[in-house]
Amino acid sequence: MSKIVLITGASRGIGFALAQQFIDKGFTVIGTSRTGVLQKSPTDKLIAKKLNLPDPKSRAQLANWLAENEIKVDIVVNNAGIGPDLGGEKPEEESYKATFEVNTTGTVFFTELILPHIKEGGKVINISSKMGSIEACGTTDSVAYRMSKAALNMYTKILTNRLEGTQKVAAIHPGWVRTTISESSSKYAPLSTEESAKGIIEFVMGDFKTGTFWNVEAQEMIGW
Ligand SMILES: NC(=O)c1ccc[n+]([C@@H]2O[C@H](COP(=O)([O-])OP(=O)(O)OC[C@H]3O[C@@H](n4cnc5c(N)ncnc54)[C@H](OP(=O)(O)O)[C@@H]3O)[C@@H](O)[C@H]2O)c1
Repeated sequence: MSKIVLITGASRGIGFALAQQFIDKGFTVIGTSRTGVLQKSPTDKLIAKKLNLPDPKSRAQLANWLAENEIKVDIVVNNAGIGPDLGGEKPEEESYKATFEVNTTGTVFFTELILPHIKEGGKVINISSKMGSIEACGTTDSVAYRMSKAALNMYTKILTNRLEGTQKVAAIHPGWVRTTISESSSKYAPLSTEESAKGIIEFVMGDFKTGTFWNVEAQEMIGW
């Protein structure tokens, strides 16, 4: 039986490229988006599911589906994320809350529901950002986005401690990648989604140390 990877936010961007490349490596991919539609038509190797991270019912529906079908996944990639205040100078309450609802709260509580459905020896990969590194922060912009990823990094560490000896956990900076997450990313980012996904998969399939915060672009660890 082929290995199974669950990727959140697989409708486009980095998540879609990850789905494509995991399929090429022989995985079965469960890919999510809010509509349950991905760029590519579903096949027996690509299962599209609905997931709206801020919605507890939506999170529970996906976890229940895994339970009902007795599916245990090998890898979970928490990739879905938003950045409505990317480049903004000051926090604004509505976009701040929306950012945390997806990048942090939704991701944390989705992961908690999914943990019983991850195989022993499996992996939890949180797509974070070097913008969430407290040590590396020397600017004032993108307050909500940076804070949401810093909080996700802390959850990564806590999960690492909790899952020690059973599953491995990592946070990844995927590089600056040409996607529609922000206008400047779509125009100026140096990496394609395919290049980023390739680097992420190399790291995930390698023998990484649990609890690592990895920069795919620079191929080195990042300070938290
Ligand atoms: N691009 C970069 O340069 C960069 C740099 C560092 C980190 N990252 C991180 O990489 C990850 C992927 O980003 P990307 O650039 O590929 O972004 P993207 O192209 O905008 O894709 C975001 C994905 O998240 C999903 N999503 C959005 N809102 C959601 C919600 N409420 N519930 C569930 N899924 C939701 C979207 O699916 P639907 O809208 O179809 O539901 C989409 O598949 C994010 O965590 C981002 O923070 C990106």
